[in-house]
Amino acid sequence: MNTLPLISFILGRLQVLREQLARHNHRYHVLDAPEITDEAYDALFRELVELEQAHPEWITPDSPTQRVGAAPMEGFAKVIHHVPMLSIDTVPDLADFHRRVSDALGETEIDYAAEPKIDGVAVSLIYQAGVLIQAATRGDGREGEEITAQIRTIPSVPLRLLGSGHPERLEVRGEVFITLEAFARFNENALMNNEKPFANPRNAAAGSLRQLDPRITARRPLKLFCHGVGEGIAADWPATHDQMMQRFRAWGLPTCPDAAVVHGVEGCCAYYQQLLEKRDRLPYEIDGMVFKVNQLAWRERLGFVSRAPRWAAACKFPSREALTLVEAIDIQVGRTGVLTPVARLQPVGVGGVTVTNVTLHNFEELARKEVRVGDTVRVRRAGDVIPEVVEVVLEKRPAATQPVALPLCCPVCGGEVSKSEGEVAIRCVENFACPAQLKEAVRHFASRRAMNIEGVGEKLVELLFARQLIGTVADLYRLSVRRAELIELDRMGEKSVDNLLAAIEESRKRDLTRFLFALGIREVGEATAASLARHFGAIAPLMAASEQDLQGAPEVGPVAAARVWHFFREPTNQTVLERLLAEPATGWHRAAVSTGSGGGDHPLAGATVVLTGTLGRWSRSEAKARLEGLGAKVSGSLSKRTRYLVVGEAPGSKLAQAKELGVEILDEAALAALFQGESGGSEVGEEVVK
Ligand code: IVH
Repeated sequence: MNTLPLISFILGRLQVLREQLARHNHRYHVLDAPEITDEAYDALFRELVELEQAHPEWITPDSPTQRVGAAPMEGFAKVIHHVPMLSIDTVPDLADFHRRVSDALGETEIDYAAEPKIDGVAVSLIYQAGVLIQAATRGDGREGEEITAQIRTIPSVPLRLLGSGHPERLEVRGEVFITLEAFARFNENALMNNEKPFANPRNAAAGSLRQLDPRITARRPLKLFCHGVGEGIAADWPATHDQMMQRFRAWGLPTCPDAAVVHGVEGCCAYYQQLLEKRDRLPYEIDGMVFKVNQLAWRERLGFVSRAPRWAAACKFPSREALTLVEAIDIQVGRTGVLTPVARLQPVGVGGVTVTNVTLHNFEELARKEVRVGDTVRVRRAGDVIPEVVEVVLEKRPAATQPVALPLCCPVCGGEVSKSEGEVAIRCVENFACPAQLKEAVRHFASRRAMNIEGVGEKLVELLFARQLIGTVADLYRLSVRRAELIELDRMGEKSVDNLLAAIEESRKRDLTRFLFALGIREVGEATAASLARHFGAIAPLMAASEQDLQGAPEVGPVAAARVWHFFREPTNQTVLERLLAEPATGWHRAAVSTGSGGGDHPLAGATVVLTGTLGRWSRSEAKARLEGLGAKVSGSLSKRTRYLVVGEAPGSKLAQAKELGVEILDEAALAALFQGESGGSEVGEEVVK
């Protein structure tokens, strides 16, 4: 029997499958524009695996099945960089750099390739006849370590270059990094599995490449941006850097989408400003910008001094991290009695702002990070995210330090503290006798999203309590009779007292939704308050409702229902409410008349929303698109400005952080209800918050 036709059929099919898979892989991971479904891709992949299993002798190293699977290695081999991997000089002044380049070249009109300086790990990739044969770290610039097996696991790295016209031997230089979102998710998982999280995305990328077992590297969401060439500049090479990058892209090599060609020093400065403003919205971490002379022939003429080329300059952005000293660890008591340890730091600039206080979230987190007074800590602040202590620099710990002891009583009122089962928080149980909680309750009541009484901030509340001008929120509406005493207050004066009293008067108009939210009932955020107000229409039936009745409101689960029911039965609350409800000319007895459609009224309009965990009903991008469609901004990280945290399956540490920040938490059903613009209670799911 002649088996030749069969053999050539199989060989042909193997090649077609490899090419198709490489192309679809590139469309998915590099272009973000898949042409086929995941299922169709998997089917092709399975077909290839099966054919290769039947004919292992025909497996090629560039086969898409060969990315992962290399066995753990003993160590990393050394690799010599034939063209040294240089560093870039950081320049304080772009005009100086431009002048030097211009003088050396005798040219005045100079284009620069401007690129973000990716905060990752520099790598060199060697393609021989279009096939990836070697990858290495930078090392000291002349000698690095071989990480071919690790680099092969990165899905966006082509194992074989696409298209044609590649030099026989090509060395691509680039940066391996991990996106901020992937970094956050990776750390959430690490925390859940009691593993040590990475301090920053750069460490995460470096640590992942340093794995001797490539199968571990394969599980890390690494990416690559190519930004230059080492060996391999051939005769028909393009004239400029941007053309070179274009060619890279045609060969399937990923490049940074935020790069640009700019003209002269003005162009550089404008781009610098633009990128600095955009920094917080970039999906990856950068530590500055790189400007490179675009004409490759001019680069030759400029050459380099010592270890850096004359044709490139880096400009640094303010660092996202800094080391500083912990001067004290205080305990704050929040509105619901939660005791929060806060590190008082020696003031330090991080990411462009001065940081002096940093929350340590809770006592478990404090113990995990082992922060002590006297420690030097690494503080990190990315974007509008609240600053955090990443880790203690243990080498710098002084001899006589002590771990922080768990509080045995409330640091403000001296009352009893307790910790409920399943909760990390330690609380002061003296809800209605603890001044810290009373003050926080007033501050919350007056806050912008609650009753919106301008001027009632932390300082004023402190003063009003100290002078016994108020004891509860109800006293705010009796302040007009104590005008003279108010004027006596530090930094007040007639004008500001009148403004304050006017703002308090104005707040009488707030509707039931805001009022309910302002009362600060645990588990009742704005969405729940809106649901209760709409469902019951007025305060009286709401106060009379049973737990069962309360659960009839959309989005209200058993936990929130129980909280609301108990709130209205607590004698101190009843006294305060009686007084508030006896106030004349108020809008809070009834729900505002609904305008029908969502429109500008929609609770998502203008809200910043963060998603965490896996959602069942929508993909992340779908959920994001729908949220944005309703006017919400979707952010990757939590901050004080976050309105909602949407929690899916396996949410990780964001959930705890959100609770502690007082960010309202929505489960999938609650989000669905918001998307629907409200209606029947069938969408209501289990409460997420325990
Ligand atoms: S160009 C001769 N472009 O920054 C200079 N480098 O000090 C060739 N880096 O470790 C490098 N982003 O890996 C260039 N867009 C970019 C970069 C970049 C990050 C790293 C590079 C090197 C360091 C330079």
